Amino acid sequence: MKSIAMCSGKGGTGKSCVATYVAEALARAGQKTLLVELGEDSRSLDLILGVTTTAFGVGDVLSGVCEIEEAISPVDRTPGLFLMPPGAEIPLNSEEIADLLRKLEKEYDYILVDGARFQTLPVKALGLFLMVTTPDSLSVRACADLSRRLYGKGAKEIRLIINDVPPRVPPIEGAEDFDGIIDMIGAQLLGVIPQSPKLRYSANSGMPLDDYSLTLKVFEHIAARLMGRRMPLLVR
Ligand SMILES: Nc1ncnc2c1ncn2[C@@H]1O[C@H](COP(=O)(O)OP(=O)(O)OP(=O)(O)O)[C@@H](O)[C@H]1O
Ligand SMILES: [Mg+2]
Repeated sequence: MKSIAMCSGKGGTGKSCVATYVAEALARAGQKTLLVELGEDSRSLDLILGVTTTAFGVGDVLSGVCEIEEAISPVDRTPGLFLMPPGAEIPLNSEEIADLLRKLEKEYDYILVDGARFQTLPVKALGLFLMVTTPDSLSVRACADLSRRLYGKGAKEIRLIINDVPPRVPPIEGAEDFDGIIDMIGAQLLGVIPQSPKLRYSANSGMPLDDYSLTLKVFEHIAARLMGRRMPLLVR
């Protein structure tokens, strides 16, 4: 499997949380998984995972300050999961990122890339884009625009995650239900994640999701689907 990039047309839709908990579910399913956080925006993944990372990160590797291994920290609570933080702030270049991912792909079963801006993404080097939208018209339209741009730049595959879904979703202009959202964005559905105060609490306190919770199960099913298994959506 090639690297997977998190994306959305709009900020704050839950990309970092989804990346973290999907990566954690993949690792728990026995897949050696790396979260790579790029540095254009602020860091999130160390806080969501509740880990202290090494002082180095992607920027340090790309500027030759350290070796790749020195920029990667294991996530103690989840054997098989590793994190490479953004590190030193340097202007990122998509060719350099593509090169780094090619090297990392030899060592890991799954690589999830978070925090990247569209302009610096090596679109053709990525195997899959995970588009995270909320069921709001602003987010859906922005994701629809981004998905057109990504396909225009040669993206191989985009899968959709509808996140932060309240118990009752008010219909939005042009997309009456999930099918409408899927059609507008033009990407196959990978998962639907409920609005969850517990997820918000976990993400903000660096605690794992509760065992046996529906939210944890939803992430396990998303990870299983990524691994090619047929799993029910759990949330409609
Ligand atoms: N399903 C959910 N239920 C409740 N809260 C959620 C859910 N998903 C995300 N959140 C909360 O929404 C906020 C934004 O999440 P997150 O940082 O993952 O978004 P992001 O898309 O990575 O943002 P940015 O674009 O700034 O990188 C966080 O406070 C997070 O806890
Ligand atoms: Mg984020």
